[in-house]
Amino acid sequence: MTRIGKRGLLGLAGAALAAPAFAQAAFPSRTINMIVPFAAGGPTDTVARLIAQAMSTSLGQTVVVENVGGAGGTLGAQRAAQARPDGYTILLHHIGMATIPTLYRRVAYDPINGFETIGLVTEVPMTLVGRSSLAAQNMAELIALVRREGEKLNYANAGIGAASHLCGLLLQQALGTRMTTVPYRGTGPAMNDLLAGTVDLMCDQTTNTTEQIKAGSVRGFAVTTPERIAALPDLPTAAEGGLPGFEVSVWHGLYAPKGTPAPVIARLNRALVAALQDANVGTRFAALGTAPVPVARATPEAHREFWQADIAKWRPLIQAAGQYAD
Ligand code: MLT
Repeated sequence: MTRIGKRGLLGLAGAALAAPAFAQAAFPSRTINMIVPFAAGGPTDTVARLIAQAMSTSLGQTVVVENVGGAGGTLGAQRAAQARPDGYTILLHHIGMATIPTLYRRVAYDPINGFETIGLVTEVPMTLVGRSSLAAQNMAELIALVRREGEKLNYANAGIGAASHLCGLLLQQALGTRMTTVPYRGTGPAMNDLLAGTVDLMCDQTTNTTEQIKAGSVRGFAVTTPERIAALPDLPTAAEGGLPGFEVSVWHGLYAPKGTPAPVIARLNRALVAALQDANVGTRFAALGTAPVPVARATPEAHREFWQADIAKWRPLIQAAGQYAD
């Protein structure tokens, strides 16, 4: 008798739960739920809502965004991993999918094998921003301030596993100092406190900071890309500001629970590709400092390959920092 191991039984269960053949052919026949693992109003939410709206047009069914924030994006990822693998629950998540497997020793889902990849969406630059009253006018003064004040400074992020956490880790490593971290369910709520001046500093994606920097309501110090970006031409790169090699851009991808049938993944991928080619998505992304990925990168295979490589890329950097989630 062939022994079916635990994984085999889980796989059979997943397949049994997946949509039967006739349902796959009619997919989608009802509303699709897109989980965003951070609070509404933040950069991930902004990307998700633009993509969801454009996918709805292509699918002929509404794609509803559900914000499931908390624990650095792992609560939302868990919800998606444990959903029925029928295509009606998908997850839009970012670089955290590459850092969480190293940062978290225990999560209630399989952070690597718990998902099917649908395709990459966009790569978003990050910006170092401070409250407008901060006693630093530029990157050189900010570096001196962080080195001098250290833990007296409050640094906002969206929890361990968030891009804002990763950027803060890299910044503190580069400056050889520690700030006091203030975690939020997303950098949308964190931005409100930065605007109010109750936190000092944040590293966040241009999809959440471009308009605030342009309005002068927060102070932009640097962008974390090798070159300046068209949306913020006057914002120096971190390298220009005295931190060469300080580069991080936040890629976003679309996922479905493991076991979601291939024809359903293919249908979702076609809708994603249509969204990436949508004129409004392109225009809005450009205004926010980013752009849809080229279609060649938006395949399930290219997404999984990129994701696996990024897990390997960040693992040694996170291990060197020695900061893990409990
Ligand atoms: C983060 O990783 O910092 C998230 O993108 C924040 C958010 O989207 O709210």
